[in-house]
Amino acid sequence: MAGTGDFAEILDGDVYKYYSDGEWKKSSSGKTVAIINPTTRKTQYKVQACSQAEVNKVMESAKSAQKAWARTPLWKRAELLHKAAAILKEHKAPIAECLVKEIAKPAKDAVSEVVRSGDLVSYTAEEGVRILGEGKFLVSDSFPGNERTKYCLTSKIPLGVILAIPPFNYPVNLAVSKIGPALIAGNSLVLKPPTQGAVSCLHMVHCFHLAGFPKGLISCVTGKGSEIGDFLTMHPGVNCISFTGGDTGIAISKKAGMIPLQMELGGKDACIVLEDADLDLVAANIIKGGFSYSGQRCTAIKVVLVMESVADALVEKVNARVAKLRVGPPEDDCDITPVVTESSANFIEGLVMDAKEKGATFCQEYKRDGNLIWPLLLDNVRPDMRIAWEEPFGPILPVIRINSVEEGIHHCNASNFGLQGCVFTKDINKAVLISDAMETGTVQINSAPARGPDHFPFQGLKDSGIGSQGITNSINMMTKVKSTVINLPSPSYSMG
Ligand code: G3P
Repeated sequence: MAGTGDFAEILDGDVYKYYSDGEWKKSSSGKTVAIINPTTRKTQYKVQACSQAEVNKVMESAKSAQKAWARTPLWKRAELLHKAAAILKEHKAPIAECLVKEIAKPAKDAVSEVVRSGDLVSYTAEEGVRILGEGKFLVSDSFPGNERTKYCLTSKIPLGVILAIPPFNYPVNLAVSKIGPALIAGNSLVLKPPTQGAVSCLHMVHCFHLAGFPKGLISCVTGKGSEIGDFLTMHPGVNCISFTGGDTGIAISKKAGMIPLQMELGGKDACIVLEDADLDLVAANIIKGGFSYSGQRCTAIKVVLVMESVADALVEKVNARVAKLRVGPPEDDCDITPVVTESSANFIEGLVMDAKEKGATFCQEYKRDGNLIWPLLLDNVRPDMRIAWEEPFGPILPVIRINSVEEGIHHCNASNFGLQGCVFTKDINKAVLISDAMETGTVQINSAPARGPDHFPFQGLKDSGIGSQGITNSINMMTKVKSTVINLPSPSYSMG
């Protein structure tokens, strides 16, 4: 159970502690932040509201711990990460319980998130050992005008202190996708969890604590964005920010200083359906891509662009599957569970009402009870409707009927977002041409968008982000190349 057994030390009364300098602590602010259970809409947990002085302390420890960690052999760093991965998987049940209570993630998906996270950490350890164990050797005479008098040796060095800010929808997995690469590369890491998801994050961090990482190398500060948000992201001790979330990321990137940024800020992933597509495959993928975790995924299908000639048939097939979705509490492992907050539910409702006023066809009746919104397919959506462009982050999916592939590509590319997209057709040549024309970081052919497997590159164009993620890219992003040049007194040619 959460907060008991191995996790008892992270809880003080009914308030979870924060993690600084290798210890679980109460904030001297004496204040707490309540975490509301999306299903019951009552306070489920409380966490510490850390102060700016506590953030300063964490930054100091992170800086000194990083120096020692950078001198720790790579194989030893990997060994500790493997240990943390095993402990994480061993404790999947209490962590999944937190995910169910804090973010209403369906029970089975909550367990999968923790297991996937353990696997991600192990893979990161292995990948890090390989890619960080190698550097480059360059010789000067390949550039015009040079003799072979210079040997250049390059290696990858850590950046220093990485600030990781994961989102509510994968608080554990998207935290470890930053923690693993940061640590294997010799950085220290400060984690600022999302409010919903903070307790899952604290349990996950405790698994790293149990694995025996050095004091101060990992810290986790909880609190109000208004008090410590900007303070953290503009802190002079931070050498890199890895953020996943909404458009707060745009504000962060404007305020951050001369440091590398890794940002993933959402998407409006289009699903383009051609006349020759296998409509049963498309319908299955629309359900998985549009409605899993109630549409609260950056990579969810957020608009279907279907050729008019097959639109009726596709809508009928999708509706038949929507009717089978189980709606209810996450504890019962329902397909559609309450969205994360009341304000999210209100926002989604605003999009639905706008579509209603402007004449979209409601394939199901709009139904809401608290934060629980029943799945809804909106047909005959037009570009003047907000739902055609905005990200609902809820179980509401618009269908726009198109008369040409170009119309579909045009709609996709007119979006401010450019995360992923997908195209369904049996003609691979057409699929590749459409993929090339779509301005998104990834295009899936004949499958719904998805980030995983976690070692695949994951990136967004335009407002969807900065940089590329995926295990290898994240390790590289959290390092910098360092060169040492050996200058010889006279040219030297091997075997010359
Ligand atoms: O930020 C990415 C997340 O929202 C989606 O991840 O694994 O569901 O494709 P995934």
